[in-house]
Order: sequence, then C-alpha cells, then structure tokens
Amino acid sequence: MDLSPTAIRRAREKAAERGVSARFEIADALELPRRAVVFDTVIDSAVLHVLDAEDRAKYVAGIASVLRPGGVCHLICFSDRQPGSWGPRRFRADELHAAFGDGWAIDSLTADKFHLNPFHGVHEAHAWLATITRK
Ligand SMILES: C[S@@+](CC[C@H](N)C(=O)[O-])C[C@H]1O[C@@H](n2cnc3c(N)ncnc32)[C@H](O)[C@@H]1O
Repeated sequence: MDLSPTAIRRAREKAAERGVSARFEIADALELPRRAVVFDTVIDSAVLHVLDAEDRAKYVAGIASVLRPGGVCHLICFSDRQPGSWGPRRFRADELHAAFGDGWAIDSLTADKFHLNPFHGVHEAHAWLATITRK
C-alpha cells in the first residue's frame, strides 16, 4: 500500500513487467487498525522513516493490529550513519528499539544500504535492515 497513486501505478507496472502477481492499494498505512485482516508478514520499505514522531507510534500500533502473534515485520529505513539532512529521518538503533518496544522483539538489526533513485546526487544511503517479531 501507499498513499501515492503514482507509487501504486508504478508498482503495478513493474509487477506486470516482471510477471509478478500482487495486489497494490492506494491506502493510508495509519489506518491499518480499521482493516479486518491479519497477516503473517509485514514489509515496511522506507515508510516508517518518513513519518513524524506522533504518526510513528500510531503506525507501529497499526502494524501490530494486522500482524498475528509470532508474525514478522521486515523493515528498512535510513540510518544515522547517513550524512546530510535531506530526505527522510535518520534512525539511531536505540530509536528503533524504542519504536518497537512493548509487544515486539527485535530479532536482528543489521547495517545495510539502500539503492536509491538518484537523489541529491546520491545513489545509495546507509540503512538499517530490521527483522522484528510481534510477541
Ligand atoms: C521513501 S518512499 C518509499 C517508497 C517505496 N515503499 C519504496 O521502498 O521505494 C516513502 C513512501 O511512503 C508513502 N507514505 C507516506 N505516508 C504514508 C501513509 N500514511 N500511508 C501509506 N503510505 C505512506 C509515500 O507516499 C512514499 O511513497
């Protein structure tokens, strides 16, 4: 899901080009608790790091509401090792631990890299790759 119709259109185009069967929806990830669905897995590709502090807590609670106990959230976000102040928030490891506190177990938190569409002349950025289980 994504709020942006353009993002969803591009995702649908890419899936079709690659012969991948997937459902894409224009939807607000802050409204997850309204959904009467439960998933085994949630993937956050660079969404948490664009949300402000208040929405971040709401978003994490929303993920918990649609993830079964024992289900796993895979998340990638910018890390504080990325220089500059353009673009999304840079997370420290302790901030991710705080965001996924009660009710979650962070199984792994690995320093990784994003490959970006060129942005501010940058093609890749330091990231955290996290695997987080809902207790
Ligand atoms: C950094 S981009 C990542 C896009 C894509 N997931 C990827 O990995 O390339 C952040 C995306 O979060 C989307 N977004 C921001 N707030 C959102 C919300 N409340 N619900 C759904 N998508 C949201 C934006 O529209 C934007 O496409």
